[in-house]
Amino acid sequence: MSQPSNSPVVFITGCSSGFGLLTAARLASRGYRVVATMRDTRKQGSLTSEINRRGGIADIVPMDVTDKASVTRAVDHVNGRYGYIDVLVNNAGYGIGGFFEDLTDEEIRAQFEVNFFGVQNVTRAVIPLMRQRRRGKIINISSVAGFSASPAFSAYNASKWALEAFSESLRYELKFFGIDVLLVEPGTYKTRIFYENARYARYFDHPNSPYYAISRHLKKKVAAYVEDCHKDPEEIGIIVEKLIRAKNPPFRNIPDVEGQILYWLRRALPFRVYSAMIRAFFLKGLKT
Ligand SMILES: NC(=O)c1ccc[n+]([C@@H]2O[C@H](COP(=O)([O-])OP(=O)(O)OC[C@H]3O[C@@H](n4cnc5c(N)ncnc54)[C@H](OP(=O)(O)O)[C@@H]3O)[C@@H](O)[C@H]2O)c1
Repeated sequence: MSQPSNSPVVFITGCSSGFGLLTAARLASRGYRVVATMRDTRKQGSLTSEINRRGGIADIVPMDVTDKASVTRAVDHVNGRYGYIDVLVNNAGYGIGGFFEDLTDEEIRAQFEVNFFGVQNVTRAVIPLMRQRRRGKIINISSVAGFSASPAFSAYNASKWALEAFSESLRYELKFFGIDVLLVEPGTYKTRIFYENARYARYFDHPNSPYYAISRHLKKKVAAYVEDCHKDPEEIGIIVEKLIRAKNPPFRNIPDVEGQILYWLRRALPFRVYSAMIRAFFLKGLKT
């Protein structure tokens, strides 16, 4: 079985779990020619069983977004096989929790290496293929954390904020060549990012940290919030597919109502009021 030879070629990063896996499986089942990349292809089991369950096929290719040689190999593979890429979905990412003073420089840089420089590595490798044909879409999976910050996530917030500025700038630059740059800004969805893939600052759980009590409070608060979150992560795949199909898609795309409300509150409220609301949400119940 093969996909129609005129169906768009979609190149997705971070497909071993979560949004990447579901988006790859969804698009494969709908006839797109999907190149599902992941840094460790030994983890492809969940994706292949999801694809088998839904029907369709995908090309599973190893790629670590922080390793330029592996990015070049993956893009060369696609170029050799299909000759072009219609859509790039920069999805790979993780979030590190922890107060700034509890984070090491290395931890903050590592966060940027994946969420920001990783996106740049892949985008830099893919643009020439799109520019040549004067067409293409680059869809960057940002987050509500890209426009609304919170305590204990400064490294993650900053990486997504940087991704948003990069995407906005790149959108102007690539318009000349018929390439569209788009953002997807999801709110909270229960994926591995909060479980197996969750990372914390080296000093997060250290009793000597001045933030020890508040870190423990926030960890419980976020865990309870995520546990209570029943939105379907498939919504990201649905919105990505909509963006691929749309003639003139909007730049910012927030799939969930929670994220949309946050976006409008952020725009409508004076920052003093908005930040008091965020502070109350995160710190309510903290015993000092
Ligand atoms: N879930 C949410 O609530 C939420 C909300 C807003 C935005 N997001 C964003 O959505 C994206 C996907 O997250 P998710 O929720 O689907 O989390 P997830 O289930 O943890 O998936 C993250 C994916 O990124 C991959 N990855 C991490 N570092 C990588 C690297 N150096 N090279 C290649 N792949 C790498 C992981 O691969 P491994 O399996 O090898 O680690 C995994 O496939 C992230 O950019 C995240 O920031 C998530």
